[in-house]
Amino acid sequence: MSLNAFFSQLSTLNSQLFRIFAPKMMTEDEKYMSRCLQLAKHGEFTTAPNPMVGAVIVHQGRIVGEGWHRLYGGPHAEVNAVRSVRPEDEHLLPESTIYVSLEPCSHWGKTPPCAELLVEKGFRRVVVGCLDPNEKVSGRGIRRLQEAGAEVVVGVLEKECRWLNRKFITFHTLHRPYITLKWAESADGFIDRRRQSAADGPAVRFSTPWTQMLVHRLRANHEAILVGHRTWELDQPSLTTRFWPGKNPKRIVLSRGESLIPPVQSLLVEGGAQTLQAYIDADLWDEAYIERSTLLLKDGVKAPEMKTDPKGRPIHVNFT
Ligand SMILES: NC(=O)c1ccc[n+]([C@@H]2O[C@H](COP(=O)([O-])OP(=O)(O)OC[C@H]3O[C@@H](n4cnc5c(N)ncnc54)[C@H](OP(=O)(O)O)[C@@H]3O)[C@@H](O)[C@H]2O)c1
Ligand SMILES: [Zn+2]
Repeated sequence: MSLNAFFSQLSTLNSQLFRIFAPKMMTEDEKYMSRCLQLAKHGEFTTAPNPMVGAVIVHQGRIVGEGWHRLYGGPHAEVNAVRSVRPEDEHLLPESTIYVSLEPCSHWGKTPPCAELLVEKGFRRVVVGCLDPNEKVSGRGIRRLQEAGAEVVVGVLEKECRWLNRKFITFHTLHRPYITLKWAESADGFIDRRRQSAADGPAVRFSTPWTQMLVHRLRANHEAILVGHRTWELDQPSLTTRFWPGKNPKRIVLSRGESLIPPVQSLLVEGGAQTLQAYIDADLWDEAYIERSTLLLKDGVKAPEMKTDPKGRPIHVNFT
């Protein structure tokens, strides 16, 4: 093989390898949508049962405004983004693109419809992360913008936008709360030693200050928290968010004859074994958090059994 042919083959191989291994470059739209997601996350503990939403206004590659939905019942992300634009930049809005992680609303709720605001401000290009599953909006916001002559692009970083609002989306599409299971277990698969009554002493403590803080963060992220009747009686748990700044969820104690699905948007099920198993057996869960300790108990209350999940739902295992 001549030297020229060798180098030519090497360069072909190089460009093929680059195509396979090069990091996926973000498009301009994806770049600004990822900023929307960053902004939206600021509302993680304050917007429920409303969704978390971020909005960014871009004029010729320059961000001229941005905002997010800060508080349940408060102004939406689009309103805050428009309000953040400096008066001297207001005239740029019709030539700007507004990026929003969730479809702009089209109905009068606690605030006026955002789609109307965008039409009034003359935006000619609107980029939306995902559709709003709320039947009061669901496609109507997009239609209103298109009728006004705006170019509307839907589905930029759609998976990420839907994941951010998985609780809101589950509630509006499946008409049930988003259900998170959570328990802590020993290395040999027990969630406590055997106890007949509270007089037998406290439950085994698996958590560390770090995992306790993570659990309280998880609690602050749910509207309600549920435990089985026996856990309630044996442990008398406070079920508060005292190690994380946030609202205490509503507390629910499960007894026979009651529905596994209480009327709320998100539910954290914290045990015990029978209760968690009831949710697993009924296939009523969306995400699970398992804290696995190095402690060995040898005997006790067996941890719930969770077989490989064919639906591939997220199961987060934390080793402590
Ligand atoms: N390590 C951990 O993460 C963790 C967390 C929580 C608890 N625990 C431990 O777990 C132990 C208690 O667990 P456990 O399995 O004995 O009891 P449990 O799950 O806390 O409570 C069982 C009770 O819940 C109700 N229940 C269960 N399934 C139900 C269903 N499908 N529908 C309606 N009600 C239902 C029933 O209440 P009624 O009897 O009133 O009908 C049942 O007797 C304790 O030792 C506690 O310390 C450990
Ligand atoms: Zn809105």
